Amino acid sequence: MTDALVVFTPSGKRGRFASGTPVLAAARQLGVDLDSVCGGRGICGRCQIGAAQALTPPNAVEARYAAKRDLAPDRRLGCQACVQGDTVIDVPADSQVHRQVVRKDASSRPMVMDPATRLYLLEVAEPDMHEPSGDFERLARALREQWDISGLQPDIQVLQELQPALREGGWRVTVAVHRGHRDPTPRLTGIWPGFHAQGAFGLAIDLGSTTIAAHLTDLTDGSVRTAAGVMNPQIRFGEDLMSRVSFAMMTPGGAAQMTAAVRTALADLATDLARDAGIAACSVLEAVVVCNPVMHHLLLGLDPVELGQAPFALATSGALEGAARDFGLGGIAPGARAYLLPCIAGHVGADAAAVALSEAPERSRDLVLVVDVGTNAEILLGNTTRVLACSSPTGPAFEGAQISAGQRAAPGAIERVRIDPVTKAPRFRVIGCELWSDDPAFPADQPVTGICGSGIIEAVAEMRMAGLVDASGLIGSAEQTGTARCLPEGRTHSYLLHDGTDRGGPRIAVTQGDIRAIQLAKSALYAGARLLMDDFGVDRVDRVVLAGAFGAHVSALHALVLGMIPDVAVERVTSAGNAAGTGARMALCSRDARAEVERLVGRIHKVETAIEPRFQEHFVAANALPHATAPFDGLRAHTPLPDLSFNRAAPGADGRRRRRAPA
Ligand code: FES
Repeated sequence: MTDALVVFTPSGKRGRFASGTPVLAAARQLGVDLDSVCGGRGICGRCQIGAAQALTPPNAVEARYAAKRDLAPDRRLGCQACVQGDTVIDVPADSQVHRQVVRKDASSRPMVMDPATRLYLLEVAEPDMHEPSGDFERLARALREQWDISGLQPDIQVLQELQPALREGGWRVTVAVHRGHRDPTPRLTGIWPGFHAQGAFGLAIDLGSTTIAAHLTDLTDGSVRTAAGVMNPQIRFGEDLMSRVSFAMMTPGGAAQMTAAVRTALADLATDLARDAGIAACSVLEAVVVCNPVMHHLLLGLDPVELGQAPFALATSGALEGAARDFGLGGIAPGARAYLLPCIAGHVGADAAAVALSEAPERSRDLVLVVDVGTNAEILLGNTTRVLACSSPTGPAFEGAQISAGQRAAPGAIERVRIDPVTKAPRFRVIGCELWSDDPAFPADQPVTGICGSGIIEAVAEMRMAGLVDASGLIGSAEQTGTARCLPEGRTHSYLLHDGTDRGGPRIAVTQGDIRAIQLAKSALYAGARLLMDDFGVDRVDRVVLAGAFGAHVSALHALVLGMIPDVAVERVTSAGNAAGTGARMALCSRDARAEVERLVGRIHKVETAIEPRFQEHFVAANALPHATAPFDGLRAHTPLPDLSFNRAAPGADGRRRRRAPA
């Protein structure tokens, strides 16, 4: 009898096999990507294939699996179904080890699952008086014989669980094995008696100076089980990075205190996430961390003092891979591994590397500027020819700090603002309420507590568009602007957004000081971008990607009116969501992504803003709204800006409103 022709789709791999060959065995011989954790015992269900012709009928093992777990009528277990004749077998995406995960966010680079940690079910030989060997050695032999993985290395913490697990499982155990992208030595990172049905998980952590966000991710399919964010407790040692470095410099044991605080917060966050998802902490077997250089050092227990002064030397800029406990990461499996993305330079951290991994400027045909704004702005500029990066000290104004009525983005904060260009009356939306404040249904008792980062950015830009603020950033008087909302405050003016004092709430106004704070922050951001454009030898970029919470909440138009970013058509500005967090998840799910980010960081040219004299020039010119010398034609074609000056001392100024045709 001739062998049967078996064709696998979608790979197209084909071969001839004797009748009776299990589909899983045929797939393995041909190198078809068909998953398995239980090694063909009909337990894990990972080997599912589409029902096909010329296979043996469903057997008792499949019936048992279908009764206990879910097996769709058009699915078979590849380890049980055997070939009986010529057939075409479909391997669905969820049965592929290296399945492609299509990302939901704006950037469309798909991610291929290739996690460093995988689970294997093993039958381990029992100890024998006549052939003395350790339990670990017999387990390593089983892994070699049953899964063709040689050279397993123990982890002392996991060894402590090994003997009880083997005996409880009747010598059948599930092991978690980690193989890194640079060091493929297999390491035992977890062990469970019998089949561990819960699966393997990882944490992607975006450790920011203000907030810490983490995504608990399934290492089988890359799906996020749950996510949460907490404030970084180091805030009590200093709002921004440099004040934390100063705290470390001035306070004996200060760095250690900050290290302990962030490690405790991370362990608590991991514990909470696992509990919320109903997952045992011991199933969380990996963590990937992205952070700025100061957070990087403080997490690892390294003194950040050198990062506070030129030449901003990092203790190490390379990626780090090791036992999670050595990184100070608790609340997860004792044998878990951790990976820290590489830093780009002393001021440009692993968070920027994660943004680069996620947004892939090196693959962009057109010239893309990627801006990730937190307390520091991380800026990347590049295309397929090269990529440049810098960090710019924008300060916390974009997050609502240093603003008279500023507050963090929380319920009650004004987050959107519109100002009528004729009546100069404002309307706004607050976090926690879908309605605009001029909607008749806007609740009278809605708390309005302050203004957050996106709110102040929109407020200042709207004031500029409505002719309440001139190009130099000066707020006009009531007489100059024609609205009684512009009130004198000392020698300057402020613009009243909301007066809640009659209901015991605050009076929320945009003051001249607020505008100055926003001007300083936006000038730093623009100057950083402009410096990269100088190095690239260009005057324009083709498109701008706004990353992070900033990108998600700030409209392109308002960012352009303020001149936060270089002039570009409004529709060429897109938001990338939490790109640093996405980069962390990519590195968590794929060893290839880790290799790629390390290659990419080696290719990125760093521009140091702190020592670059042109930075100051660009900073000064960027102080105007939108800019003193750059024409911003693209913006003006779309949104004409009033050309006026409120400066009474300016030559020709006579105190009256000066209004010319819109530019
Ligand atoms: Fe586990 Fe088939 S390989 S059920």
